[in-house]
Amino acid sequence: MKQSRLDLFVVERERPLRSPDRMRRRRGAGAGTDYVHSRMQSVLAAACVAAVATAVVMISTARAATVSTAPFGTTQDGKPVSLYTMTSAHGVVVKFMSYGGTLTEILAPDRNGHAANVILGLPTLADYLKLGAASPYLGTLVGRYANRIAKGHFSLDGKDYTLAINNPPNALHGGLQGFDKRVWTVEPTAASGDAVSARLALTSPDGDQGYPGTLQVTVTYTLSDDNAFTITYQATTDKDTVLNLTNHAYFNLAGVGAPEGVYPQVLTINAASYLPTDAGAIPLGAPETVAGTPFDFRQPTQIGAHIRADNQQLLMAHGYDHNWVLNKTGDRSQPQFAARLVDPASGRRLECLTDQPGVQVYTSNFMKGDLAGVGGIYRQTDAVTLETQHYPDSPNHPDYPTTELKPGETFHSTTIFRFGVAR
Ligand code: GLA
Repeated sequence: MKQSRLDLFVVERERPLRSPDRMRRRRGAGAGTDYVHSRMQSVLAAACVAAVATAVVMISTARAATVSTAPFGTTQDGKPVSLYTMTSAHGVVVKFMSYGGTLTEILAPDRNGHAANVILGLPTLADYLKLGAASPYLGTLVGRYANRIAKGHFSLDGKDYTLAINNPPNALHGGLQGFDKRVWTVEPTAASGDAVSARLALTSPDGDQGYPGTLQVTVTYTLSDDNAFTITYQATTDKDTVLNLTNHAYFNLAGVGAPEGVYPQVLTINAASYLPTDAGAIPLGAPETVAGTPFDFRQPTQIGAHIRADNQQLLMAHGYDHNWVLNKTGDRSQPQFAARLVDPASGRRLECLTDQPGVQVYTSNFMKGDLAGVGGIYRQTDAVTLETQHYPDSPNHPDYPTTELKPGETFHSTTIFRFGVAR
């Protein structure tokens, strides 16, 4: 699905620019609420008065990031769901809904300014709801525990916890009703500088899906005018618990539906080691070097270059579905370079930075052509995820970075997806 530069301009012209100093809320007829931040308004006003502003000038200098909302249907139990559209001044549009905090569409410009949707998504809320337990977590937030916990079992403070086995023989992505299947409370918030934000909140009660402690979770989505989409996660608990949060966007920088999938796209991962797994995708133990394996993405490498190599790990996972152990230097609390994905044909580039210790890279291996999404039917290797997170099954691996959260502590994490172009 392509959108031309002109289309983007038309969309933007429908959004009036507002106060330069603060976020103002427009209550209007029709679908919803529109929040507009514009510290560039004075520039635009001057240009208009002088009647010299051309459309191109408006696109490149006078637009400001916006976020708008519209109804997107109701869940089976009657909860209303809203769709939010964040638009940066320089061409990136991020759409997400309150159900699962799900990213439904990201439009990113190529080297000629042509925007295309670069994440897998479905056309309507009903399409997401009907997937139920078979959901591939398209663009969703994932919690309480992203990825797997072996045999749905872990111990904490000497107490055993049992989780639903929703990916036999293991527990996957927070259980049968994970955070991907909840309606989050969403509040667009005033953001500083050239950015707009929305704050998503959820309370997960004590015992939810088998996990201890009442968890208060907030996730903030921020889109800035330099085309960086930042996700920050925060959580507190009232009992000792375990936690692993991520977003499960599936990227294809050629534009969803590109016939070659992500094979030609060039991936770099800032990791010298990865976690080999058993047949159920549970890490075997210590990280192993990527050197001399198809898992070596330390230098830019096409995703398709080695994905069909005769390698036991690739065979078991039907492609890449592994956690890379990210190289870190200096202050580990700050987001550091994790991965870069480039589509040489369009020039679209995505850089991922995170403070998390790992990234799960998954090449849509379980997509069998039985799901019709935006842009066509989804199949293996149509897209790739960059799930920044702690290592799978950490609660059962005391040698892995801890995923425990205690009362009085606040879990903080930041991941940045920065869109750009490679010339
Ligand atoms: C993660 C897992 C995969 C798969 C997908 C969702 O990426 O590692 O094995 O479960 O989520 O389909």
